[in-house]
Amino acid sequence: MKIGFNFSLGTTYPLVTQLVREREIDFCEILIDNFLQVPAVELAAAFDCPVAFHIMFSKYMESDQAALEDLAARLREYIDILRPLYVSDHIAAFSHLGRQLYHLAEVDYAGAYRQIRERTLWWQERLGCRVHLENYPSIMDGGHDAPAFFARLTKETGCGLLFDISNAVCAQRNCGLPLDAWSLLAAEARHFHIAGFTGSILSPRLAIDAHDTDLAPDTLAYLERIGPALALPGRTLTYERDGNIEYEAIVRDLHRLRTALACPKPSHGHAAVNADASEDRNANVTA
Ligand SMILES: [Fe+2]
Repeated sequence: MKIGFNFSLGTTYPLVTQLVREREIDFCEILIDNFLQVPAVELAAAFDCPVAFHIMFSKYMESDQAALEDLAARLREYIDILRPLYVSDHIAAFSHLGRQLYHLAEVDYAGAYRQIRERTLWWQERLGCRVHLENYPSIMDGGHDAPAFFARLTKETGCGLLFDISNAVCAQRNCGLPLDAWSLLAAEARHFHIAGFTGSILSPRLAIDAHDTDLAPDTLAYLERIGPALALPGRTLTYERDGNIEYEAIVRDLHRLRTALACPKPSHGHAAVNADASEDRNANVTA
């Protein structure tokens, strides 16, 4: 398995390259829609390690078709040149009744299923590869529907679940969704996220997926429980940090991950080519 770090902001580039140089990480997950102004060849040359793509603001459930066609054409160029380990995106509500939301909201899984299914099939077809969709850090009771939703969506569209381990812990803390509800999906997932989260300011104190603290003990305990699923070939785990970005704190958490997974730091350089990428590109993503 490979352990990676998210690259979301240009300002963290020195930190990310240091993590690569010191072999603390095996790959880098690029928040790709933040870097489409950088020519693909330049972006490829900027990383001496495999990369993965995380799409944040495609809003592929909501955006108009012409805008998505344009975005997909641009992303395909980056996919062709950088050959990412995986391409991931989000299922979330970015607006409500025409108003942009300040924070992304969880979708109504049952009510929106048909639309999400059709859009996911179409989005994968436009991108030319399987897309791995991330589970949401649920707050409301509707989060209980998430595991069954992802089980059905992955089966009917060929998409993957990007299983965010700490988002599942947030959902468990916030709305009581048992971690075991994800067991089958976690066993089948190829790509994983993990991060620290923080408490909300207002009562009730909710677990907010802020990526700004060290890993919580219950997150690490859950990681150890599902560790065998991550030990399989081709699996990746991205540690996300977007606040309180301190090199030593990040390395400490990366070492906690490696200890929990019995996955030592590599003693040699990174593979220049993303050997796992072709599988998703050749995937049959139409049901
Ligand atoms: Fe995540």
